[in-house]
Amino acid sequence: MASQVLNSPSKTAHLIDVIKLFDEVELADSPETKLVDTVEAIAELVGLLEGLPTEPPSLYFDLEGVNLSRVGTVSILQLHILPSKQTYLIDIHSLHDKSFSTPGGNGCTLKKILELDTIPKVFFDVRNDSDALYSHFGIRLAGVQDLQLMELASRSFLRKNVNGLAKCIERDAPLSAEERANWIRIKEKGVRLFAPEKGGTYEVFNERPLPADIVLYCAQDVQILPRLWAQYYRKLSSGWKKKVLEASGDRVKLSQSATYNGKGRHMALAPRGWH
Ligand SMILES: *[C@@H]1O[C@H](CO)[C@@H](O)[C@H](O)[C@H]1NC(C)=O
Repeated sequence: MASQVLNSPSKTAHLIDVIKLFDEVELADSPETKLVDTVEAIAELVGLLEGLPTEPPSLYFDLEGVNLSRVGTVSILQLHILPSKQTYLIDIHSLHDKSFSTPGGNGCTLKKILELDTIPKVFFDVRNDSDALYSHFGIRLAGVQDLQLMELASRSFLRKNVNGLAKCIERDAPLSAEERANWIRIKEKGVRLFAPEKGGTYEVFNERPLPADIVLYCAQDVQILPRLWAQYYRKLSSGWKKKVLEASGDRVKLSQSATYNGKGRHMALAPRGWH
């Protein structure tokens, strides 16, 4: 009797829906994270990216990969859209160029969005991300606001070295005690899976389906970026805002040069003339 009920077509369809929903909840642990791993899903996403508010910026990005750079590969592009509070994990490992070249209903592509100067895009340290996007997909980022530079510019003294994202989040992101504990827990689980020095491997970003702990790891930082943006932005004079935009553009340009090297002490130095 029970198997008859399960085998009737509408019940089966319903069951599949429930399982999918359960999988999604399990995977993302929150309804706000969506995996984008088909051209249809890319087209739909691209359709959502035009005409969004620009202040505060609507689009927050991060990237994961194996040796993320011109010699490595890109696995996941994370995008958080502030107005809808949705986070998208775009499966670059599976979709390759199609991630960037698939048009939405409006004819726009993700590549175009990334290259439009009039659409602000927030990254935290854009250099390696830009190096990878440019060298593998020919993407010339424009309209970048680099949060790492915003933090540096927002300081009242000692503008010598930039800070890493974890330090910025711990110091400046308004997180509740519970959010903070969660953030640390998710970060530690993720690091154990991908960091070679912790016994992990970056190849975990190319496993499909993406392990649940990696989904959480990928989603969490990009969701915090808008809070950091707001913290830093309100401390900047119009002069510093302009300098941040210029220096962000300089970082993109540098990352596209033949001699760019993302490794070493020089990566921590403030832009010339900032201190
Ligand atoms: C940037 O990429 C290089 C490898 O090209 C890596 O050694 C370095 O740690 C990366 N920097 C950051 C801030 O991720």
